[in-house]
Amino acid sequence: MSSMTKRLDGRVAVITGAGSGIGLATAKRFAAEGAKVVCVDLDEESGRKAAAEVGGLFIQADVTDEDAVRAMYQTAVDTYGSLDITFNNAGISPPDDDSILVTGLDAWKRVQEVNLTSVYLCCKYAIPHMQRQGKGSIINTASFVAVMGAATSQISYSASKGGVLAMSRELGVQFAREGIRVNALCPGPVNTPLLQELFAKDPERAARRLVHIPLGRFAEPEEIAAAVAFLASDDSSFMTANTFLVDGGISGA
Ligand code: NAI
Repeated sequence: MSSMTKRLDGRVAVITGAGSGIGLATAKRFAAEGAKVVCVDLDEESGRKAAAEVGGLFIQADVTDEDAVRAMYQTAVDTYGSLDITFNNAGISPPDDDSILVTGLDAWKRVQEVNLTSVYLCCKYAIPHMQRQGKGSIINTASFVAVMGAATSQISYSASKGGVLAMSRELGVQFAREGIRVNALCPGPVNTPLLQELFAKDPERAARRLVHIPLGRFAEPEEIAAAVAFLASDDSSFMTANTFLVDGGISGA
């Protein structure tokens, strides 16, 4: 990538779930655009590999653990001197059958914890650093299912992503005057291990999904990473509290 396109030169970016899929592609994109990348993942092997690949720092952390989240931002600032971007992206897929008549309370709570509470914790502990700097860009991974019903029943997952979307809007409005932008990224189905795992359990699910995607295919993680880089960079400087759909046209159909 030429220096002309290095929109994140010298910026410090934390990415959760950086070991796989969208997070991994974004770590590579951020690094290519000049950022210093802190790769956070629960999985040590993939997280460490991602960090090595992008010349960044690996922090093994469970994003549902309050102390770990607080510490990971402190480590990022102590290591690189600032916190300019956080991509709060770690998440898990829905339980096998995520219909309201089937999903048990424990499964429901687990999905809320990993997909929603983690974003609350990341924002809570990233924002004070950004307030001190008077600037920052926060991107929270929601999903297209936050804005529309899915073709497959996924009650706990959709509710968690709706929560991420609403929280991002609230925070975007609340902190706009402090130079902190908060946007919700809403990908359509993306070809990552998370999606492949779902389709492996229910092969017909892929076909059911494809019918609803005007572009006729799933996204590649790099296509989502390009959108995240835009939201992280000053190219999106007039955008906050936004629902940023990168969904192959699903929500427009
Ligand atoms: P993935 O499964 O490929 O990667 C998720 C990463 O998060 C993994 O490396 C995993 O180890 C990590 N992780 C999981 N729980 C964690 C925890 N408690 N603490 C720290 N790290 C943890 O998934 P993918 O597809 O890249 O998904 C990323 C985000 O995008 C998720 O929030 C997902 O819900 C969302 N999303 C994915 C879509 C898709 O079709 N793949 C569509 C819309 C949203």
